[in-house]
Amino acid sequence: MADEPLILGIETSCDETGVGIVRGHTLLADALASSVDQHARFGGVVPEVASRAHLEAIVPTMQRALTEAGVALADIDAIAVTAGPGLAGALLVGVAAAKGYAVAAEKPVYGVNHLAAHVAVDTLEHGPLPEPAVALLVSGGHSSLLLVDDLARGVTPLGATIDDAAGEAFDKIARLLGLPFPGGPYIDREARAGDPAAIAFPRGLTAAKDLAAHRYDFSFSGLKTAVARWVEARQRAGEPVPVADVAASFQEAVCDVLVAKALDACRTSGIETLVIGGGVAANSRLRAMAEQRAARHGIRVRVPRPGLCTDNGAMVAALGAHLVASGVAPSRLDLPADSAMPLTTVSV
Ligand code: KG4
Ligand code: ZN
Repeated sequence: MADEPLILGIETSCDETGVGIVRGHTLLADALASSVDQHARFGGVVPEVASRAHLEAIVPTMQRALTEAGVALADIDAIAVTAGPGLAGALLVGVAAAKGYAVAAEKPVYGVNHLAAHVAVDTLEHGPLPEPAVALLVSGGHSSLLLVDDLARGVTPLGATIDDAAGEAFDKIARLLGLPFPGGPYIDREARAGDPAAIAFPRGLTAAKDLAAHRYDFSFSGLKTAVARWVEARQRAGEPVPVADVAASFQEAVCDVLVAKALDACRTSGIETLVIGGGVAANSRLRAMAEQRAARHGIRVRVPRPGLCTDNGAMVAALGAHLVASGVAPSRLDLPADSAMPLTTVSV
């Protein structure tokens, strides 16, 4: 509908420079420039390299998005930008750019939470999110379970990882197996040829004794150690490492815990919608397992297509559109980038 707000979103919290444009729930442009290749040889994102790459990419990515959407900056109703959490220097590039464009074009600006944007992006594919919903947020830096009462104004954390994020675990195990960075997609691919039941890896924080204090929390460090020990034992014995079986068994352990805890949260709170977001939501096994198990309990799973799960500008625009539609006031022009922005703050 032409009278829905036209929102531009800017994402620079990690290694992807993203500019997305939406009209209401309709995606018009999703321009992306990634610096992932520049980080690959370090086995992780190097903050200074990421900031420099954002600086070089932001203006051309902005222009690509406007061209793709067939609109001019003057047509935009508001600019949304990731204000946190993320890498401080990387966030600053996006926030400074958003302020510059907002002042130049006299547009309101919304500084938004990256994690809430990972949830909001699903509205571009599946329409308005029924509230309350449970959200499982699994990315390279975060793993959380949330109760989404009102995505425009606040979410309630139910639990989070007590050590590694799910994506971080994928990346570390990939490295151990000699697969490239970021490892999630490579594990996903290897696992297709492997047996998920080949090795019984531990399921963190699922034992009865852990559930009392950590029912909705996650832990992947024990799993990571177990995989490393198993691989080392093989290597010591001079036997080949069955990469596909290790990948499949590891992936199965991660997905099993994520899905079990997310569905437990839904059932316990009587909530029928589970939305999954963040880079790990692109995982094919996680998507299939969540669908299958949720169906048994009459729970509907909403996961955006893989390209919208990993970081992008469209997710920021989607959250911006939701904030505008919900009547939330814009941010002040001196809004800061906050690398440690809490999950409970949706916009600043
Ligand atoms: O959301 P995202 O793009 O960036 C952060 O906000 O962190 O998530 C990146 C993470 C990486 O750890 C990457 O390995 C993981 O998402 N990832 C996957 C898959 N695709 C990306 N993990 C498992 N399976 C995948 N297919
Ligand atoms: Zn992310």
